[in-house]
Amino acid sequence: MSGSRVVALGHHQPERVLTNADLEKMVDTNDEWIRQRTGISTRRIAAPTETVADMASEAGAKALAASGLAPSDIGQVIVATCSAIDRSPSTAARVAARLSIPSAVVFDLNNACAGFCTALATADHTIRAGAAQHALVIGAEKMSDLVDWTDRSSCILLGDGAGAAVVSASPEAQIGPATWGSDPTRANAVRLVDDWQPRFAQEGQAVFRWATSELPAIAAQACARAGIEVTDLAAVVTHQANLRIIEAMTKRLGLRDDVVIARDVVESGNTSAASVPLALSKMAERGELPSGRPVLLFAFGGGLSWAGQVITAP
Ligand code: UT7
Repeated sequence: MSGSRVVALGHHQPERVLTNADLEKMVDTNDEWIRQRTGISTRRIAAPTETVADMASEAGAKALAASGLAPSDIGQVIVATCSAIDRSPSTAARVAARLSIPSAVVFDLNNACAGFCTALATADHTIRAGAAQHALVIGAEKMSDLVDWTDRSSCILLGDGAGAAVVSASPEAQIGPATWGSDPTRANAVRLVDDWQPRFAQEGQAVFRWATSELPAIAAQACARAGIEVTDLAAVVTHQANLRIIEAMTKRLGLRDDVVIARDVVESGNTSAASVPLALSKMAERGELPSGRPVLLFAFGGGLSWAGQVITAP
């Protein structure tokens, strides 16, 4: 056994759709500004009683069912989240209980929006080390709990949801080496402010400039580490923060014209650690993910942190 691969995907989004027109009634904003500056048209908002663990469990159950594995096969459950307010037991422990996964190591991982790609690399390393054969890796967020609904600069951005992947040992390494790191000089550029209750805040323009200037080279490094050229990529799923960042970054990467690019931010908004697996799973569900071909996953956010890798599409 020399590596691991993603064998199945799943996702969950809450029922409630919050449109730009809805937001126009809540804060001083308008559909044109939101679409021009962010590309976002809608986002999903969880019900007051719907928790991060609920969404993570729904997504995880779908991925597990699609994998054909039994709950007892899963040796590790990692949930990437920064919005699970009820922190103990961990969200991963709650997922294991819900899905009757009997004896896995379970833990949450907080690397903000880069959490899922970080968790995927962690599962890959665990499997390579022989400490598990199969892992359930989930990104799940209820960002609506962290939104200041009076702040027009941030409340229009965020949404809720979850995406999951089952990762299994494989003779062929189909999860490439992680490209990951952080820039401590910008540690507070995206953060949770905790004065009256935790709420999302960011230096939007500074993050935008950093993302569009720094990320293409870092993403290209993920391809180099996987031993492929950027032009070999069949699909790109980056953190869904802003359509303008996605367009600028993918343009600068110099991709082939037929590459499938995730643009789930348009309908789901920014779901932090859930955004990459959610977009990836939705692509697979629509039949857009080119099976057996290289897909770049890449995310960035609070820290400022980044993480990404090239995987082979399941
Ligand atoms: O997931 C974590 C990683 N985060 C990111 O990737 C975020 C990166 N940054 C961004 O995506 C963009 O900076 C934002 C979408 C957050 C903001 O877009 P922007 O083009 O940077 O706008 P801005 O903050 O510079 O604001 C421009 C104007 C301001 O008005 P004045 O000062 O020019 O009169 C804002 O007050 O737009 C105003 N504004 C709004 N107007 C209507 C800010 N929010 C809104 C709004 N509706 N919702």
